Amino acid sequence: MNKHNQFKNEAIPNYNFLVAALGIIGFMFSCSPKIGEASTKNNSTEYLSQGKTIYDNSCGKCHDLPNPKEYSAQSWVGIMNSMAPKAKLNESQHQMVYDYIVSVK
Ligand code: HEC
Repeated sequence: MNKHNQFKNEAIPNYNFLVAALGIIGFMFSCSPKIGEASTKNNSTEYLSQGKTIYDNSCGKCHDLPNPKEYSAQSWVGIMNSMAPKAKLNESQHQMVYDYIVSVK
């Protein structure tokens, strides 16, 4: 099948694909949490305690460990944007720490 045929067929839904996609989505939701999914399960106890560990270990080095309640969730976005690089956090660590901070507020 060349590109032109594919284009023409667009008006006809490909139900096989749809059924397969729904099957995959259903399978994903039916499964118990996997390690690789941590970033999407941003309120699980395990995920938040990982965030707390990173926070405890990385954010009290240069100053006292800040109190999450001292700043609004909105302020923490900016604070984390400047502090995550200082603490050498990667993207997902940054997100985990932020989610932890917001969860204890
Ligand atoms: C490399 C040193 C360093 C690390 C690591 C560090 N900070 Fe900071 N932090 C600073 C300095 C310096 C300031 C004050 C100057 C500034 O605001 O940039 C500060 C200020 C702050 C403030 C006050 C901001 C304000 O607007 O009053 C908060 C809150 C904070 N840090 C949170 C964190 C958190 C959370 C982490 C961990 C992700 C972290 N810091 C890691 C150096 C660091």
